Amino acid sequence: MAESSSQNRGQKWSPNSWRSKPIVQVPDYPNMDELKEVEQTLGSFPPLVFAGEARDLKARLGRVAAGEGFLLQGGDCAESFSEHHGDNIRDFFRVMLQMAVVLTYAGSVPVVKVGRIAGQFAKPRSAPMESKDGVELPSYRGDIINGIDFTEEDRIPDPRRQLKAYRQSAATLNLLRAFAQGGYANLEHVHRWTLGFLENSPAAERFGEIATRITETLDFMKACGINSDNTRQLTATNFFTSHEALLLGYEEAFARVDSTSGETYATSGHFIWIGDRTRQVDHAHVEFMRGIKNPIGLKCGPSISDDDLMRLIDTLNPEDEAGRLTLICRFGADDVQEHLPRLVRKVQEEGRKVVWSCDPMHGNTIKASTGYKTRPFDLVLSEVESFFDICQAERVHAGGVHVEMTGKNVTECIGGAKTVKEADLSARYHTHCDPRLNADQALELAFLIAERMKKDRHGNRVSEAKTA
Ligand code: TRP
Ligand code: MN
Repeated sequence: MAESSSQNRGQKWSPNSWRSKPIVQVPDYPNMDELKEVEQTLGSFPPLVFAGEARDLKARLGRVAAGEGFLLQGGDCAESFSEHHGDNIRDFFRVMLQMAVVLTYAGSVPVVKVGRIAGQFAKPRSAPMESKDGVELPSYRGDIINGIDFTEEDRIPDPRRQLKAYRQSAATLNLLRAFAQGGYANLEHVHRWTLGFLENSPAAERFGEIATRITETLDFMKACGINSDNTRQLTATNFFTSHEALLLGYEEAFARVDSTSGETYATSGHFIWIGDRTRQVDHAHVEFMRGIKNPIGLKCGPSISDDDLMRLIDTLNPEDEAGRLTLICRFGADDVQEHLPRLVRKVQEEGRKVVWSCDPMHGNTIKASTGYKTRPFDLVLSEVESFFDICQAERVHAGGVHVEMTGKNVTECIGGAKTVKEADLSARYHTHCDPRLNADQALELAFLIAERMKKDRHGNRVSEAKTA
């Protein structure tokens, strides 16, 4: 283990020990008394998730780390107060399920389903202030902190927004639990929706074969007497929530001691992650995260050095617990080859257990000639392809993907089979932050990943046969 690694180890952790560390990306609240009052109120509210669920997710991710599962993580860049509707949640959940079925079939392993939802409200920004026509106001940091309109009223951080974000998260999670366990996730229904999608898709021919095989598999099971009346696994699924743990006062308020284990869990969501901008090993965000027992993520961008990464792994997962740490890699299609192999080799050399996941969104954002921030579908796909290539070459399990997506038919990313063009971007550009894949693009991506998984599995079988 790297020598300087244990700098935080042995030092006492508490839910508020982050407060004595340097910190970046903090909102400038005008009234600190009000902030404190809100944090106290939040601390008295019921937790959103139960520690046992976080342990369950960690165990599932542990199996992913061992090569026996795949992590599908997706959702909005930023949730918003104005888009809080049942239809939006349902449509998002539907696409996640469709993607999950295709991936479960192609990978022949369980897919761990994690939403960027029910708490994904806080955004790091490249600049603290924004100027327009000579007026300077604080940058938008997500609805949990301030409002998106370029007015003083909206942009001055308001702590009471945290109460609203909590209530919204509770309502969203409630509906997700109902969908996941109440029959909406029925495998046959989900697959039928996908067949409907293919009927209208230019990619129908390409993906028809996988879809047909799934149909046949379901029919076969039914013929054998396994159906939704007698087999709950066919109608129910497990769905977990996640968000970036950026607003530490809020996170601290939901850091609760679990009576079963006596350990502290973040109860604001099942899985929380550290952003690429806040992963300094001696800073506040890492300090908070090292003490909570949930499964956590670490975003890794091009600026992370091999040593940075090893220090972070030592600090965040000193016991090398499988499933504790997911490395969410976001280098960009052009840079992934330069960075991912060196990091994979280093982690392999040190023999550490992690889940390797690919975020093909954040390194592939460009500005369209029309001024919109967008992401070309081809670049997204290219980074995913390289991720699979590199994992295969380095002999580690390509463990998952992390995408920004919505269930709606938005026009935010260009490309895809039903090609969204630059000129289309203005039609339905609704995101509060980064451009998301729309429902069709998200499902298409899942099919393309599925093709790749099938190919790799087939290749492995062939080489196993040869060596046998
Ligand atoms: N229960 C299994 C699972 O969650 C199978 C399943 C049922 C499923 N409904 C699903 C898989 C919807 C993906 C999507 O994996
Ligand atoms: Mn984003």
